[in-house]
Amino acid sequence: MIPVEILLETDRLTLRPLLDSDAEAVLGLQDDPEVMRYLDPSPLERFYTGGFYAAIEKEPGRFVGWFALEPKGEDEYEIGWRLYRWAWGSGYATEGSLALLHMGFTDLGASRVYAETMAVNTRSRRVMEKIGLRHVRTLFVDWPDPLPGSDQGEVEYALTRVEYLGQPA
Ligand SMILES: CC(C)(COP(=O)(O)OP(=O)(O)OC[C@H]1O[C@@H](n2cnc3c(N)ncnc32)[C@H](O)[C@@H]1OP(=O)(O)O)[C@@H](O)C(=O)NCCC(=O)NCCS
Repeated sequence: MIPVEILLETDRLTLRPLLDSDAEAVLGLQDDPEVMRYLDPSPLERFYTGGFYAAIEKEPGRFVGWFALEPKGEDEYEIGWRLYRWAWGSGYATEGSLALLHMGFTDLGASRVYAETMAVNTRSRRVMEKIGLRHVRTLFVDWPDPLPGSDQGEVEYALTRVEYLGQPA
């Protein structure tokens, strides 16, 4: 688990571990069908398992959403993001995830960081591309209750430490 004292700052955002007091804001994201268009809702506990960070706008201090850098096996992390719709389109996802990616490869010594989404989630795929992840594969899953667009499959994007830093762990 990532130590709580780690706190990232970007030009416009502060990223910090989720607090109990963020619960309403975290669940509130799931109330917007557009935010959840390519996602199934999760119970609140899911976000408090380590690796989830609140993103706060430095000015005026609003909760923008969350970023995740979840440990998935030895030296491997999954990066993800979910922002309130009012915050979309101004580069916040790219800004926050670039900082998190850097932390993963430097402070945490990750050897690989990957991201997954539905193939039709073009916004999220664009963020993956902008932070330097590369498309690794498209997989097709038999979901019991598939979301519209699932027939196009799920995509995995990834970046290795060697690719990112130009040197092995
Ligand atoms: C995905 C998400 C985090 C992106 O947040 P954001 O702050 O708007 O992202 P950014 O502004 O950094 O970048 C978005 C990019 O997608 C592009 N984009 C926006 N709408 C698009 C669309 N309909 N199709 C393709 N690209 C699109 C933007 O132009 C931008 O790229 P550019 O800088 O090259 O122009 C946000 O839309 C979100 O929270 N979505 C709901 C949750 C979700 O789907 N999470 C991912 C699940 S794995």
